Amino acid sequence: MTEKNQRVIQEDFALEPCKIEGYESFMEGLTNIVSKGDISEEMGEQIKSYTLAYLKTHPLDEFNRFKDDNYVREYIGRDSSGWEAIVMSWKKGNVTAIHTHPQFAGYNFADGVFLVEIFEEYEDGLKLAAKLTIDSQVGLFSIGEQGKFNNHIHRITCLSPTGHSLHIYSDDALKGAKLNGLKIYE
Ligand SMILES: [Fe+2]
Repeated sequence: MTEKNQRVIQEDFALEPCKIEGYESFMEGLTNIVSKGDISEEMGEQIKSYTLAYLKTHPLDEFNRFKDDNYVREYIGRDSSGWEAIVMSWKKGNVTAIHTHPQFAGYNFADGVFLVEIFEEYEDGLKLAAKLTIDSQVGLFSIGEQGKFNNHIHRITCLSPTGHSLHIYSDDALKGAKLNGLKIYE
């Protein structure tokens, strides 16, 4: 799939490295893991275990900004290498675009009930590859091609009154493509 002429999740804007008060230690731990070497399944498992362990002792209730028409993204840290961690706050019915990701995309559900639909390219459109209902603390991750933003196609829908998730990306996730409008084959 070409990345040219595609709409992106949001136009680029300057994303400076940042550390958010209260989350410095989380970002330090994440940086330790990701600075060890190339992205691999092993690194993905480490990031997942680390993030889920963190969520067990750190509820995300303070991220209580919700919107009727869209999920809310709140950066909790961004490393100069591009790695970023974002808390997403969801209300029932909030749904992402069908969209793609940077090389590493980890999404860890903290509370709430979610529908995760994973797609694969099929002919001139997409085909549903997996459909998961998440109702506990679960982490998923995908590893795609380095330097690309057209990896791992999914859509997330919040099914509970509210919910929170913690997302870890190897690069600016807003550069992922929106694929809404493509034909979805059964
Ligand atoms: Fe995503």
